[in-house]
Amino acid sequence: MKNILFVASEGVPFIKTGGLADVVGSLPKCIDKKYFDIRVILPKYTCMKPEFKEMLTFKQNFYMDFHWKNAYVGILEAEYEGIKFYFIDNEGYFGGMRPYCDDPLWEIEKFAFFSKAALSALPLIGFKPDIIHCHDWQTGLIPVYLKERFAGNDFFKGIKTIMTIHNLKFQGKWSIKDVKEITGLSDYYFTPDKLEAYKDANLLKGGIVFADAITTVSETYAEEIKTQFYGEGLDGLLNSRANDLRGIVNGIDYKDFNPETDPFIEKKYNARDFRKEKVKNKLKLQEELGLKKDANTMMIGIVSRLTDQKGFDLIAYVMDELCRDNIQIVVLGTGEERYENMFRHFDWKYSDKVSGNIYYSEPLSHKIYAACDAFLMPSLFEPCGLSQLMALRYGTVPIVRETGGLKDTVEPYNEYESTGTGFSFLNYNAHEMLGTVRYAEHIYYDKKREWNKIIDRGMSRDFSWYTSAAKYQAMYDWMIG
Ligand code: ADP
Ligand code: GLC
Repeated sequence: MKNILFVASEGVPFIKTGGLADVVGSLPKCIDKKYFDIRVILPKYTCMKPEFKEMLTFKQNFYMDFHWKNAYVGILEAEYEGIKFYFIDNEGYFGGMRPYCDDPLWEIEKFAFFSKAALSALPLIGFKPDIIHCHDWQTGLIPVYLKERFAGNDFFKGIKTIMTIHNLKFQGKWSIKDVKEITGLSDYYFTPDKLEAYKDANLLKGGIVFADAITTVSETYAEEIKTQFYGEGLDGLLNSRANDLRGIVNGIDYKDFNPETDPFIEKKYNARDFRKEKVKNKLKLQEELGLKKDANTMMIGIVSRLTDQKGFDLIAYVMDELCRDNIQIVVLGTGEERYENMFRHFDWKYSDKVSGNIYYSEPLSHKIYAACDAFLMPSLFEPCGLSQLMALRYGTVPIVRETGGLKDTVEPYNEYESTGTGFSFLNYNAHEMLGTVRYAEHIYYDKKREWNKIIDRGMSRDFSWYTSAAKYQAMYDWMIG
């Protein structure tokens, strides 16, 4: 039996702000339990839903030297769908209304604490991983700490690490002076070949330098981040570690996202009867959101964090033009204020056509995936993207920009060969996007049989974890030897 430990800042069903949580919650379930004992460590956030907090049982606690204090570390555990989850408790760090806040220094202190506490907890839990699989900058210090203060301890000998980059944009950067104080790492670690980047300390960089292997969440993104445009200042480092870097595309949980069994949707359907049944979800959602009730109108969905990454400036630029067409647009998302206000504004301006829902709701997200005809995701960059996979699973045709995981998972429609599962455009240009949306409208309204065949092909693709989990397993095997 080989032991694998996931360490991450979020994971479904306990806490989620984006796709990272989906991956951390769903991938372990698909790893073969005959060969791997895979467990997960998360922070115990006070803002977790009560139903999940109630599932946790206290295991033990200890005190750990951290920063200038002796900090409390509680360990709780829960078993969910066959996976053992541990939670690191400290209300000073993980209290608050949300898992993350806007103060970068506080975030660094919080996740430095989390990383050190997660490692320190392992001997007490009695679980020695062969591999610690770290996710995003919040866990970047784990490979560093392992090589540094934990190296002298027999328990930690031989543990390998993987750093998975879900989003290179977020790196955990701050002044060397403060990070040195918080982490307790010596000057030795703050040089350009280790944690220093452009005069600051950079936690993700630490993870990338010290991890035994590096992965990211699609093959295209693994190539893109080696270029200046997508490299976020770390393209040089990623090029130098290119032999240890690979892209493995994400999957989604085929049980949680299944139009045949989804408890959140009005009318269940599948790949055989979607032609008749799917539209009932549209009619119901139009009613619920106060849009004009019409089975025929093309409904375009967006479920997203409202940030620059997702291409909302393109949408802002052509929204008025788009709203002249015979379409409806349903948005669900939270994020940057200017995009939240933009969708509130268009919801007001085109009240029977646009529905802007500026909040977080899992039920509504499922209803949108089920109800819409198309799903728009014109991202500036997209490490993988899960929303387009959910859309494909629900027979909702993705319209995407050809970048990162979107390029790897959505095959553009080719009307001459009758192939493809969605629509895509290459350049980050608002009118190129608009042209593509309008081409999709044309196929939807004028060539319905073709449109339905696009759905047929999309729904028959397999984006469960089946293939990618096997790739992770092969990598674990190879690393452990
Ligand atoms: P990212 O991780 O960059 O946000 P992904 O496409 O990988 O993008 O994953 C986003 C996940 O978060 C999807 O599961 C999507 O359905 C979900 N999501 C985003 N915003 C909301 C929201 N406001 N309400 C419910 N789910 C949301
Ligand atoms: C990040 C990326 C997204 C990816 C997700 C899970 O949030 O922005 O593209 O799907 O992580 O890997």
